[in-house]
Order: sequence, then C-alpha cells, then structure tokens
Amino acid sequence: MNERTDPKADSLQAPEWVRHGKLRDWVAQMAKLAKPARVVWCDGSQAEYDRLCAELVSGGTFERLNEKLRPGSYLARSNPTDVARMEDRTFICSARKDDAGPTNNWIDPAEMRGTLGRLFDGCMRGRTMYVVPFSMGPIGSHIAQIGVELSDSAYVAVNMKLMTRMGRAVLEHLGADGPFVPCVHSVGTPLVAGAKDVAWPCNAKEKWIVHFPETREIWSYGSGYGGNALLGKKCLALRIASVMARDEGWLAEHMLILGLESPEGEKHYVSAAFPSACGKTNFAMLIPPAAFSGWKVTTIGEDIAWIKPGADGRFYAINPEAGLFGVAPGTSEATNPNAMKTLRANVIFTNVALTPEGDVWWEDMTKEPPARLTDWQGKEWTPGCGRPAAHANARFTVAASQCPSMDPNWEDPKGVPISAFIFGGRRSSTVPLVVEAPSWEDGVYMGATLGSETTAAITGKVGVVRRDPMAMLAFCGYHMGDYFAHWLKMGKSVARPPKIFRVNWFRKDANGKFVWPGFAENMRVLKWIVDRCGGHAQGVETALGTIPRYDDLNWIGLERFDRARYEEIARVDDKAWGEELKSHDELFGKLASHLPQALETRRGNMHQKLAA
Ligand code: GTP
Ligand code: SPV
Ligand code: MN
Repeated sequence: MNERTDPKADSLQAPEWVRHGKLRDWVAQMAKLAKPARVVWCDGSQAEYDRLCAELVSGGTFERLNEKLRPGSYLARSNPTDVARMEDRTFICSARKDDAGPTNNWIDPAEMRGTLGRLFDGCMRGRTMYVVPFSMGPIGSHIAQIGVELSDSAYVAVNMKLMTRMGRAVLEHLGADGPFVPCVHSVGTPLVAGAKDVAWPCNAKEKWIVHFPETREIWSYGSGYGGNALLGKKCLALRIASVMARDEGWLAEHMLILGLESPEGEKHYVSAAFPSACGKTNFAMLIPPAAFSGWKVTTIGEDIAWIKPGADGRFYAINPEAGLFGVAPGTSEATNPNAMKTLRANVIFTNVALTPEGDVWWEDMTKEPPARLTDWQGKEWTPGCGRPAAHANARFTVAASQCPSMDPNWEDPKGVPISAFIFGGRRSSTVPLVVEAPSWEDGVYMGATLGSETTAAITGKVGVVRRDPMAMLAFCGYHMGDYFAHWLKMGKSVARPPKIFRVNWFRKDANGKFVWPGFAENMRVLKWIVDRCGGHAQGVETALGTIPRYDDLNWIGLERFDRARYEEIARVDDKAWGEELKSHDELFGKLASHLPQALETRRGNMHQKLAA
C-alpha cells in the first residue's frame, strides 16, 4: 500500500465561507508540516457533530450509551496514562525567562520552535486534520476572543463543539482579516499505512503543552485529554488570555460566576476562584436550602471568567465557555441536582464506569453502587473489589445551555456586573469558613496567598497543601509577581471595585470528617457575602478581616449546627496563623524580585495584628 505523504489536494481547498487569507495560508502551512491524510474544516453543525460521533463509535473511541437512559450520549475511555492535565509538561515560552517567572516551566522559544518543528513533522500522517474555529465568549462580544484549533483528534473536535461557540459563524464574524489565536494540537501518533488505530491515541513517551505569550500561539503534542487538548480552555482562556489581560487592562481568571437574587428581586453577581476540583461547579449551580424561600442562584459560568472594567465604574464579567467540562465523581442528586439534570442527555463522558444497562456510574452518584459495572479501564468491577469504578478525574462534557440554573443573561455580550470576588481552597485546618478582606489590597493578599490541598485534576501527589495564588498557579501565562501587581492596579482602575472574601468549605475535625456540611448549605455564607456588599450584615473584626459571628448567619433549617461546631470553623488560631504566614513567605521569597511592595506591607501588618 502507498503511504500518503501529502494531504489530498481536494481536501486542502478551504470552503467558500472561509474568507480569511492568512488563516487559509496558515492551515496550508501546518498541513504541509504535519502531513495529515486529509483536512476537514468544521462548520459546527449538528449534522457534523453527529457524523463525527458516529465515526468515533465505529473507531472504538466512543461507546454509545443506552438511548432510553442517556439519549445522545457517549462514553470514552482514555489511555490510563492520559487522564489529567500535565503541569510538568506545560511551558510558557516567553522571549525572556524572567517574564515566565519561577512558577512556570520555561524553555527558550527558539529552541522550543525547533523541538516543535521536529515533533510536528509528519505527526498527523494517516489522520484527519480538523480545522476548528471557535469563539471564547458570545460571538461579537467586546470581551470575546477568537481561536482556531487544528487537531488530529475527532474527540477534540466534538468536545470543542460543546465547550465553545464553534464553526462557520465564528469565521463569518472573523471576516477576511480579523485576529485569531492559532492553536495546534496533535495526539502525536501518526497512523502508518495499514495500521489499525487504537481507541485513545496519545504519545506515551512525549507530551508538550506549549504557549508563546508574545505571539499568542499554542502548540500541544501527545495528549488527548481535557485541558491538554481542548485548547480554548486553559491554554487560550487562561494562559494566553492572562497575558492579553495584563497588556490591555482586564482580568482572565479561573473563576465561576453566579447570580444571587433575593425574594425582593435584588440581584448580585459574584465571581469565585477555587483551584481545580474544589467545588466551582457545585457552587455555581447551588440550590438554596428550603429555609431560603424566594432566593435564587443562577449560573453564568463554572470555570473561567473574563472581566473588564465598565463605564459605570464596575467590573463586567463573561463566561468565555459555552459548555461544562466537569468532575463526575461526587456529583449526585444530593450534591448537585442541577448538574444531574444537565447530564440527562447529549453528554460525552470520559473515564466514568458503565452499567450493564448501558448507562454511566461514578463514585457517590448513588448511595448504593450497582452490583456490577465495567470500570473506566474497561475491566469488570464489583463493589468492594478495591479499585475505583470511575477515575477520580473522570469528566463530563455538555452544553451549558442544558443546565437548568443558567442565568437569563448568561450569554449577554456586555457581561454581568460583579459585586464580590471570592477565593477558596481545600484546607483541612487554619483557614476559617469565611472572612471579608478589609480592603482591595488585603483581598489581593488573600488571593495571592491562597493555599489548597491538591486533587486528582492534575497528575502528581494528592492531598498536600500548595500555594495556588488566585487558583491560577498552573494558568498564569506570565510572572506571578507581575500578576499580583496587575491585580493591585485593576482595583484602582474602577471606581467601585468588588469586595473580596476568602472561604473554606473543607475544614476537618479530629476524626478527619468535614465539619461544614457544604454544598447547598454554602448558601448561608453566600447570603452573608452578598448582604455585606449591600451593607446589611454584621461581623467581627479579626486579624484577617471581618468574620461573621454565629448570630450573623441564618441557621434556619440547620439548627443542629450549633455554636460550638461553628466555633471550630470560624476560629482564627494565632499559632496556626504564625505557621501559615511562614509558608506565605516561602511563596513571596520565590517571587521576591517582582513582588509588589504593597503585599509585603500587608504581610507585615498581619504579623503585627496576630502578635497583638
Ligand atoms: P475544575 O473543573 O477542575 O476547575 O474544578 P471545579 O472547581 O469546578 O470542581 P468541582 O465543582 O467539580 O469539584 C468537585 C469536588 O469538590 C468534589 O470532590 C466535591 O465533593 C467537592 N465539593 C464541592 N463542594 C463542596 C462542599 O461544599 N463541601 C465539600 N466538602 N466538598 C465539596
Ligand atoms: C481544571 O483542571 O481546572 C479543569 C479541567 O477545569 S481541565 O480542562 O482538564 O484543565
Ligand atoms: Mn478548572
């Protein structure tokens, strides 16, 4: 058999709706490098989605789920070595090493381009190169950005259809010469002539997730999973966008956005940064407990927020995404009923377990596990067999429009006005349930020193505290110290900056059990936060900031959570905070050459207050 070394000439021809000369040229140039068997321009239609899914089924990547139990839905099992984001393989290749800073991996851009040139030469042989135009944010919004991802993975193309506004409409808006972020992705396993493909192609030896911040380019090689491969998400909407935001005076953050409406119709939007797998999706879709009759939480976004100053002196935020790529394990009727409703149909599940009836299951989805399952690796599974049925970072991909709690304005191109920023992480000790920062600068300090126990959303060790400033450790495309300075500056760029709060749902008791019931009960904290913004809630001043006393929160329906219990999670332990400050110093020491003086001053003030 003859191996094709050049794409079929007829498939290189761009469709007539592609009017952008530079885009056509770039696609032709990349096809020449990667040498796919054919090029397919994605139009983003439902017919195209259905066709690609059918191809993924016949190729063995997808299994179609039971049409009655889970209509229009599929299960994919990744290669067991390709299950999460890879921070150690993620690179910020700025011209100068100092611009990437000590929290990012850096390689000289010229050297990196050489490496990528070698890796991508012929890497798509035998495969299809999909051209995936996408908009992050409502098409045409002044806060939105356009990207084009070239990928040799149909799995990526269909996920991008759910996660972004994807296809022809984007290029029509882009016109003949609009700006776009070029994104190149390959699973890094060319198909040599006659070879049969595997269900989840990826490169077991080499993975690279590479960003060139100055030229605003993204290159990803070797992984097909999540943030490694769906390049609109962490790569564009956070790493590249954070650089754009620094240069242009806005914010690109790892934040959910939610709305809270009172029975009287007063509405506030808040935006909250929690590290990966720390509860953004749950919080964004919260259903208030029965005691809060008439209160309503609505969802704008659950992972990323792009925020620009508005003419009225407030920040306005959009969700740049159109879909959810959420953690499956732990999602249930009890913890997140809105997510369960969102997942009834038209979902791509990755690395969950399969029931004998052809439906999905994951840990804690139901109280009783099914008697028999096929686990995420395709092996037989029974309760008590000693292995998890779903991978801890198993995820669902689904259109946000299917979520019952989406805010009526979630696609408003102007964005929604933000009343409060919230920072939260997983801390089994030390950090209280909620505290309000005395000022913007104190709030930036709180965000900058955010710590969290690591989760399965990244490869590596789980459960150790690491500093994760603003939940952006893995997502800031430039020097973290400069990023803090940018936050300080942004507070001065608006007349009415949001209040800033720190929360912690994860404090544990002596038996290792979570003290705070969390989930829907987080409403009690959210209401206090919003009431503080409206000027009608009280608290007590502490060394950290304002903390609600027991009687400052609403306990109707949760009376069993008594004063003594509350004291366990509201307490500020001076000794523990002494240790905590030392670990802030470790991060600050690392960033010293770029650390804003204002944060060092804050550190000193806090030390004094704690000692007093
Ligand atoms: P990424 O999508 O990875 O950025 O993360 P996310 O922040 O959206 O994560 P997600 O909401 O999916 O986090 C899920 C994890 O947080 C599960 O382990 C939940 O059990 C846990 N979780 C969410 N809310 C709470 C809470 O209020 N209390 C406790 N104890 N756990 C919670
Ligand atoms: C995260 O890890 O924060 C995610 C999942 O939201 S991924 O898109 O894979 O990065
Ligand atoms: Mn995330």
